[in-house]
Amino acid sequence: MAPGRHRRVSRAGRLPTIPWKNGGLVRTMPGTNRSCFSTEPLSAKGTLLIIVNILGSPRKNGTSARIARAFTETAATYGAAITDYPLNTMQYRGCQGCEGCHTRAERCVLRDDATTVLDNLYSADIAVFSAPVYFGDTCGQFKSFFDRMWSLIRTDIRDDEDSSRLPHGKIAVLILTHVDAAGAHNDVVERYVRNLELYGFEVRTLVAPGLRLQPNTDIDAYLHAAAALARELVRAE
Ligand SMILES: Cc1cc2nc3c(=O)[nH]c(=O)nc-3n(C[C@H](O)[C@H](O)[C@H](O)COP(=O)(O)O)c2cc1C
Repeated sequence: MAPGRHRRVSRAGRLPTIPWKNGGLVRTMPGTNRSCFSTEPLSAKGTLLIIVNILGSPRKNGTSARIARAFTETAATYGAAITDYPLNTMQYRGCQGCEGCHTRAERCVLRDDATTVLDNLYSADIAVFSAPVYFGDTCGQFKSFFDRMWSLIRTDIRDDEDSSRLPHGKIAVLILTHVDAAGAHNDVVERYVRNLELYGFEVRTLVAPGLRLQPNTDIDAYLHAAAALARELVRAE
């Protein structure tokens, strides 16, 4: 299915229809209809590990993108299927606050490239979220996408119920980079960890502080950490 084209939810109250096949921005072949993730070794089970790679930075070879790539390329060598979503190249709007996802449908009612990513999160085992820190938050491209994830939240819950529409058992890898010293943006890290946990993700973080402004800054230590995390998560070690 091409980006921006989606199956429709015909009636409010129906479960969202999830396109299992990714389209358009696929770099490596996805293609399974599994919707949940077990803690058993995935490659040992012979099932395809699906990774959705959401790239927030406008710098396609910037620090956060390179750390994300170290993660996904390592995972790919162990058989994971990766779909890259470089947000800066995609057409989407920020959340309109219309609450259509909680009144008229059980998914975002906007139809654009972000809808494709949101739909594909249902079938992902691991979602990589990477962004630079801009003025004490994530960059605008990332923040606008993140706001759209509101449509993955249920608002009709009782106390003991789950707030996420996503199946549980998924892992989020949160990658944040910035120039300020280590710890300077802990509030940003903690806030996004908390928000991702709302969606039921188990969150792993890769934070690269104290960088130079140039995209080609030496980040070898973080690239190694990302590769190690990928190996750990696909249980290949
Ligand atoms: C508009 C703008 C705002 C920024 N604001 C901050 C900031 O508040 N704190 C900080 O530490 N770095 C800030 N930076 C630096 C970026 O976070 C840093 O260069 C980051 O590593 C870029 O990541 P990227 O290469 O993945 O794009 C800012 C950079 C830009 C362009």
